[in-house]
This record gives sequence, C-alpha cells and structure tokens, in this order.
Amino acid sequence: MDQDKVKQLICDRINNLPTLPDMIQKVLSLVQDEKTTANKLGDLISYDQAISSRLLKIANSAYYGFSREISTIQHAVALIGFEQVKSLSLGIAVFDVMKGTNDTTSLMQDAFWNHSAGCSLAATIICKKLGKPDGEVAFTASLLHDMGKMILANFFSKEYKVVLEKVQEDGKSFVEIEEEVLGFTHADVGEWLCSRWKLPRSLASSIRCHHKVKEVEPDNIHLTSVVHLADIICRRADIGNSGKETIPPFQKAAQEELCVDEEQVDQMVAELKEEEEKVKAFISSIK
Ligand SMILES: [Fe+2]
Ligand SMILES: [Fe+2]
Repeated sequence: MDQDKVKQLICDRINNLPTLPDMIQKVLSLVQDEKTTANKLGDLISYDQAISSRLLKIANSAYYGFSREISTIQHAVALIGFEQVKSLSLGIAVFDVMKGTNDTTSLMQDAFWNHSAGCSLAATIICKKLGKPDGEVAFTASLLHDMGKMILANFFSKEYKVVLEKVQEDGKSFVEIEEEVLGFTHADVGEWLCSRWKLPRSLASSIRCHHKVKEVEPDNIHLTSVVHLADIICRRADIGNSGKETIPPFQKAAQEELCVDEEQVDQMVAELKEEEEKVKAFISSIK
C-alpha cells in the first residue's frame, strides 16, 4: 500500500473512533475553573459509573497507599487533587476507546500499558526531582505518549508487523522505520488522536515531538523533554514495553532544557524500579 493511502486510511480510522465521553471535556474545563470545589468535580465524575468505580479502585490501591479506605469520589478528589483526578479520568477514558480497537495485535497489550503507566510514574519522579509544579500534564502526556502505536498495530497490523520486524532486524529506532515504511510515525498518529479528542495543544505537541525534542515549539519544550526522558527512564528500568527496540539516547535539547546529568538519570531509574508495584496496581485498577 502506498504511503499516502496508508495516511489517508489512518486519518479515516481516527475520525471513526468514538469521541471521549462528554464528561471528560467537562472535567477538563472544571479543573481550569478556580471556583470548582472537590464536591462539584466529584459529583460530575460520579455520573459516569465506569470511570468513577475505577478511579476509586486506583485511589484505594497500592498506587497511592493511603491507609484509610476512600469510599466516595468526592473524598478521592479532595485527597488526590483535581489535576490528578483529571489525568486519571482521561487515561481511563482513552484506555476504554483503545480497548474497543482491540483486533489481533502484535503489540502486547499488557506490556504496552505497563510501559505507558511506567512512563507516567517516571514523569512524576522527574518533575519532583526538578521541583516543578507542573507534573500533572507531564503525567498525562507520558501516559498517552505512545497511543499512536496502539492505533497502528490494531488498524494496520500487516504494515505495522513489517515495522516491528525491521526494528528487530535493522537495529534502527521505531520512528526511523515508521518513516521509511509508513511515511509518518506513531508520534504523528498520537497528535492526530489528540486533535480528534480536542485535547489541549501542549499535550498534542509533546506527544508529536517526544522523539524529536528540538522540533517542538519553545513553549512546550519543557513538557516534551520530560516525556522524552520519562520514556528513556521507563525503558532503562525495564518496565513493560511498547515494541522492543534499543533504548534511544537522551537528546541534547532535552538534556539542556532539564539540566539533568547521567547520574541523576540513573537515580531516577532506580527510584522507578522500586515503584514497579505501583505500576502494576495502576494497570489492574483501570482495566
Ligand atoms: Fe514513542
Ligand atoms: Fe514510549
């Protein structure tokens, strides 16, 4: 199949994917509103049984490790915080849409989601280390950064199988082989998904550029650098995988933006490895 045709088909498939629940758009805007209370946000989420039950499961899991039982969403919102609840709700909603695309796929679903959750936890570790207060967007972007791979593996399994085989044989990176075979990458597909779901621009940009940090617009370089590093840390910690390939280098643009040296990266890898149980708790709660 020629590359233009594959691109057109992918865009058609994306346009046919379900939209995210209306509730998610409302959560995104309520969280922006300073007047929103934990009760108001909790009430809205409670209407969606599928999302609220899993949010409670995560809140009560080893992922947070609270000692007391959390029995209402309102309580969960008050304890976990608005931004985290927003990220988790969005993650669960995307997980559900992706589940619906579940044809036979060569990408191991569990390994894929472990990689995604591992990256989101890695992003949290990075933001804490850097003392940056904007960890939540990085958490979400890292959770969703490779979702384009899922779409490609599910809808274009034949073409994507060629990509996966070539990655093994040639020792090149996913993005290089995707460019060669498809003419675009999973990062591009991730960005198209973000626009389909009307997700914030910063999220879309960081997903599009997580493998080519220097190409992102200056406003989003910090977030993109965090997602890029989270991906590397998660692979080095060997948590999940999203298609085996050699671990990509820490790009100079990201290194300069974050001012993180190799020793600090090693520390973060070790920290993530210690938290592997949290990744498992997270994934089993959102399933
Ligand atoms: Fe990626
Ligand atoms: Fe990744």
